[in-house]
Amino acid sequence: MLTRLAFFLTLGLSAATWAVAAPPGVPPSTEAPAAKPKDKPSAVAPALTDLPRRIVLGWTGDPAHTMSVTWRTKGPSPAAKGQVATFKADPAELKPLSEPAATYSQADLGGGKSAHQHRVTFQGLSPDTSYWYRVGEGDSWSEWTTFRTASDKPEPFKFIYFGDAQNSIRSLWTRTVQQAFLAAPDARFMVHAGDLVAEGWDDALWGEWVQGQGFVASRIPSLPCPGNHDEHLPKDAPAGAGPSTVHPIWHGMFTLPQNGPKDAPELVDGAWYLDYQGVRFISLDANPYTEEAFDAAVKSRIAAKQVQWLEGVLGSNPNRWTIVIHHQPLYSAGKDRDYPELRAALLPLYDKYHVDLVLQGHDHIYGRTRKLAGGKTVGDGQPGTVYAISVSGPKAYELNPMNVALMAITRLHTQMYQVITVAPDRLDFEAFSITGEPVDRFELRKSKAGASTLVDQHQRSLAAAR
Ligand SMILES: [Fe+2]
Ligand SMILES: [Fe+2]
Repeated sequence: MLTRLAFFLTLGLSAATWAVAAPPGVPPSTEAPAAKPKDKPSAVAPALTDLPRRIVLGWTGDPAHTMSVTWRTKGPSPAAKGQVATFKADPAELKPLSEPAATYSQADLGGGKSAHQHRVTFQGLSPDTSYWYRVGEGDSWSEWTTFRTASDKPEPFKFIYFGDAQNSIRSLWTRTVQQAFLAAPDARFMVHAGDLVAEGWDDALWGEWVQGQGFVASRIPSLPCPGNHDEHLPKDAPAGAGPSTVHPIWHGMFTLPQNGPKDAPELVDGAWYLDYQGVRFISLDANPYTEEAFDAAVKSRIAAKQVQWLEGVLGSNPNRWTIVIHHQPLYSAGKDRDYPELRAALLPLYDKYHVDLVLQGHDHIYGRTRKLAGGKTVGDGQPGTVYAISVSGPKAYELNPMNVALMAITRLHTQMYQVITVAPDRLDFEAFSITGEPVDRFELRKSKAGASTLVDQHQRSLAAAR
């Protein structure tokens, strides 16, 4: 052992000596080694902490012709901008098509710290097209990364749906994101049904939320709706004052459609809708119907405005499919939970306008209902809605016996992700555990008249197994 150790020590010393001195008898060269133009010495590269970070994609509007990017820098970075380029393999062709300047926002993190947040929106993009993009300025640029625009027609596409991440985000939730990305690398966006972090006013947790995704948030847009843990009362608010709101970090980090209820600033970036290839996605802030932190007068004002807005958005939907996202469930699967006020506000509209699917979180459990209308199970071909609850993080609750009869399937103590594929006449919903185990699967088949029929593959596989 000693001999072997001595050999490696000698070899290491020899190599080090060779690197700094010319061989004996040979004069030292006076020429500097030829530098390749693109090989910049690492000593002058910016520190990693100075580079753009927390890069997140999203949309304010038309997903077929625009894409927005947000990121953060250590300082104000006054010349920050984005670059977008055609999707070619030859690096010599990596020439920016446009370089929009970033808009800047600053969030007070307390303790004398600020978040320096930037946003660009690439405009005039072609539908159904991949691009390279990066963000930064001077010597401080992000990696070149890719995104894809939506088709401007109702063509098939996939998206990923996550329930609450919330706890141990960087250490344990990251497993869910990795596995979901590997299962659906071509997903067009990720829906987050609230409680993305345990405390929405804690900036460090938002750092974990992006870091825990690796590069995924920089190449697949994020569409979140707020949960109760994402909202909070401002620190200087008097006791009992409302409403709770998302932190300015949320507004700076996520780019979401600005088409929510008018005259309700509390619902900005919480209530929005987006039309994507034949589907109207509607996000609601369910907190005003469930949280006691709201002042009663404010609560009823916000709740009423959101319902009024929702009716308009449902009634004017030109798409064949409607998917609604909110955090607290209409039919809770978690023990000791029930939200009658939420049901009273939303159920009449879901039934009236035949919402196809509702994506929810909050219960830290997986639960998917049969087809329901008026709070009762209906036939698979009858008008009605399927409600899903899921969880992507490690926190787990026990089952609520109250709504078991409405559930087609439940799964406890399991980190999950869902891949949903939508075509003009068919929606395929697949739920997986983070080991890749298929847990649930159903289809909704759309007729020309607009009605859908549920084909429950989970029930079929259970029947076949008996
Ligand atoms: Fe939660
Ligand atoms: Fe929650």
